[in-house]
Amino acid sequence: MRKILVLFAHPAQGRSEVNIELARAAHELDGVTLVDLYAEYPDYFINADREQQRLLDHDVIIFLHPFYWYSTPAILKEWQDIVLEYGFAYGEGGNSLKGKLFFSALSAGGSREAYMETGKNHFTLRELLQPLEQTADLCQLVYLPPFALFSSRRAYEEKRVRGHAERWLELLERLKDEHFDPEGVRHLELLNDAPIFSEETERM
Ligand SMILES: Cc1cc2nc3c(=O)[nH]c(=O)nc-3n(C[C@H](O)[C@H](O)[C@H](O)COP(=O)(O)O)c2cc1C
Repeated sequence: MRKILVLFAHPAQGRSEVNIELARAAHELDGVTLVDLYAEYPDYFINADREQQRLLDHDVIIFLHPFYWYSTPAILKEWQDIVLEYGFAYGEGGNSLKGKLFFSALSAGGSREAYMETGKNHFTLRELLQPLEQTADLCQLVYLPPFALFSSRRAYEEKRVRGHAERWLELLERLKDEHFDPEGVRHLELLNDAPIFSEETERM
């Protein structure tokens, strides 16, 4: 059984309609450790030793967050800067993360159409996340495509949050039970496009 670490980053959880639901769902699952980074480190003083131990203790690492300025909320950048040290995550002797799975589970205010070459954001979500993809590669992590919800600000009123949370749980369960072939999905634009999800997969 794979052990899953979900690093949850949302600086305004009182206003969250999407990510807070995914965090709550993950929290209730056996074999999943949920870390609320803003709650644990309100002053951004991230404990490198504690975070590195968490990484060592898990097989799947997931960033759970809203998409902010085409990237993660700031604390996840700080987390990378502090935790992914030379000799631990990369460089000489830095093989601690080798072979662990990594991906981002995120919600974006823009529509899927907006995240296309011809759309107003010009790049796909996966393209915009390339710094994370390359960081993962340097750290010998197995990078998987993002699991995303688009048009997230309308998702609650359009009753799309529940279905997305159900697919999230399905994904976590399969990752945990190893009923999920990472090699089969690595090339996809989004994890949402994985064959494990049914036809009605949320695309908007
Ligand atoms: C500071 C800030 C920056 C944002 N930047 C983006 C962005 O670059 N692209 C985008 O699609 N949505 C952007 N949004 C919208 C958020 O992604 C959206 O509010 C979030 O996905 C909703 O999730 P929640 O209900 O969990 O808060 C931004 C929102 C904020 C507050």
